[in-house]
Amino acid sequence: MAFLEARDLVVEYATRRGPVRALDEASLEVAAGEVVGVVGESGSGKSTIGVALARLLPGNARVSSGDVLVGGRSVLAMGDEELRALRRDTLGFVFQDPIGTLDPTARIGRQLGWMIGGKPGDRELVEHLERVRLPDPERTLRAFPHQLSGGMAQRVSIALALARAPQAVIADEPTASLDASVRSEILELLVSLTREAGTALMLMSHDLRAVRRFCTRVAVVYGGRVVETAPAQELFSSPQHPYTRALLDAAPGAEAPGETLRPIAGIPPVLHGAFRGCAFVGRCACAVEACSVERPVVHSDDHDVLCHLAPVKEKAA
Ligand SMILES: Nc1ncnc2c1ncn2[C@@H]1O[C@H](COP(=O)(O)OP(=O)(O)OP(=O)(O)O)[C@@H](O)[C@H]1O
Ligand SMILES: [Mg+2]
Repeated sequence: MAFLEARDLVVEYATRRGPVRALDEASLEVAAGEVVGVVGESGSGKSTIGVALARLLPGNARVSSGDVLVGGRSVLAMGDEELRALRRDTLGFVFQDPIGTLDPTARIGRQLGWMIGGKPGDRELVEHLERVRLPDPERTLRAFPHQLSGGMAQRVSIALALARAPQAVIADEPTASLDASVRSEILELLVSLTREAGTALMLMSHDLRAVRRFCTRVAVVYGGRVVETAPAQELFSSPQHPYTRALLDAAPGAEAPGETLRPIAGIPPVLHGAFRGCAFVGRCACAVEACSVERPVVHSDDHDVLCHLAPVKEKAA
């Protein structure tokens, strides 16, 4: 059963150039304990899904339709108290820029204390930092965020995200701003700590190699929709959606020896309202007439593909 769920979610941002439809009936599920990678080009809507799950969308955003559920409860229908508890106890967040997300005016120990609540003793605070394998936890507790390296600050952010033993963590490109040498260590830490605790992890990333290595399932987002979702192994070995195939082909490492990278031709769409067809139609080499006028819908058990050309599978009873 899904622990996190976006169901046919439509989110629009008001901008000076009119509405931008960031999510266009996006559906995504993360089961308890699962590690789900969310991939897709810049602007496809990954971060919007993440913040919508905790109703943390900015003021110019509006959920036009659909629903968001955590533990089976509609987040959109929650009152203030329930929403506060959801953000504080049930969900943890790790963002791209760790130093920017920490309070610059407070020492790490204080920030960790706020997160844990009550009056944690020094020993307890140290234990939280030891868990994220910070080499000198006592010193880190006394430090201000600007005194930490990016990698250390991200370890602190992970400690903060896990401090209240959340049931799910949403990590939005948690290593994108870090030095390449520490990226895989930090990701490994996040994945191993969440796995140990049985915490669901939703990982937005541009790093397909990392997603392949760490995720149990992958959701591919394009034009505000999840166009394909499958167990990670299956998605990488037999991608079905033409966009997924193009995305995998364009990833560094996918090129044959001596060959250059094959970027996806064209640019992703910015949707301004409801769209009748498949958003990938303009860039798809296999498009047929129906792709411009009909929304592809496919139901299946564990490998969903929203493409007119994909074999239609019936939902398992
Ligand atoms: N606060 C905002 N105001 C207006 N438009 C926004 C806002 N945030 C996002 N958008 C737009 O919504 C769409 C989806 O953005 P989102 O940040 O969710 O994509 P993303 O997949 O996370 O991209 P990236 O990989 O660059 O992080 C984009 O067209 C983006 O420009
Ligand atoms: Mg993003």
